[in-house]
Amino acid sequence: MENPAINDHQIHPLISQRWSPRAFGKLVEKDKLAQLFEAARWSSSCFNDQPWAFIVTTKDDTVNYQKLLDCLVPANVIWAQVAPVLGLVIAQKNFKHNGKPNAWAEYDAGQATATLVLQATALNLVAHQMGGFDAAKAIATFNIPETAKPVAAIAIGYAGETSNLPTELQERETAPRNRHPLSSFVFTGEWGSSAPFV
Ligand SMILES: Cc1cc2nc3c(=O)[nH]c(=O)nc-3n(C[C@H](O)[C@H](O)[C@H](O)COP(=O)(O)O)c2cc1C
Repeated sequence: MENPAINDHQIHPLISQRWSPRAFGKLVEKDKLAQLFEAARWSSSCFNDQPWAFIVTTKDDTVNYQKLLDCLVPANVIWAQVAPVLGLVIAQKNFKHNGKPNAWAEYDAGQATATLVLQATALNLVAHQMGGFDAAKAIATFNIPETAKPVAAIAIGYAGETSNLPTELQERETAPRNRHPLSSFVFTGEWGSSAPFV
């Protein structure tokens, strides 16, 4: 199914069509997977440091897929266990050019992931990001170095049938999506003063 944004102002269809479903279907072609990470690669970053990394596994790689699934919290496992692709989004904490802490590493990793997700939408794929995972377990399981921080997990695939989800998740899946109004977060002059154009 689709669950497009009910937007107040016109936005690009790629943005309104992107959403975070829980129902997943068929496997993703390997060339499309490469396209997703190519999109992430061309994201912008502070000092062009490109501080992101991804640990990715596909459902046919049963051992590594299970290792990643085991890092998710149970509430996410319920639906993510059928996703064709599971991944971890990782931020590399220090700048490559001087080794100093990169305060924008997580910001940039998030931007790269947002870019990846829009590319997924353009390819008729869906993606669902997750904060609900055990970072310590992920670090141990995948030998992630101390200089890198897993910041999110992500499930990717073609959209599946909502009817395959448990009833409670079907209700959440079909509920209207909502957002705060622009006036609550676009300010001018001082914090809390809504910009006149919103
Ligand atoms: C960083 C991040 C963490 C999230 N964590 C979870 C999660 O653990 N479980 C989940 O079901 N959804 C999670 N989500 C999905 C959000 O709930 C979802 O993006 C939000 O409700 C808005 O819905 P939409 O993406 O369909 O517009 C997460 C999204 C982001 C960006």
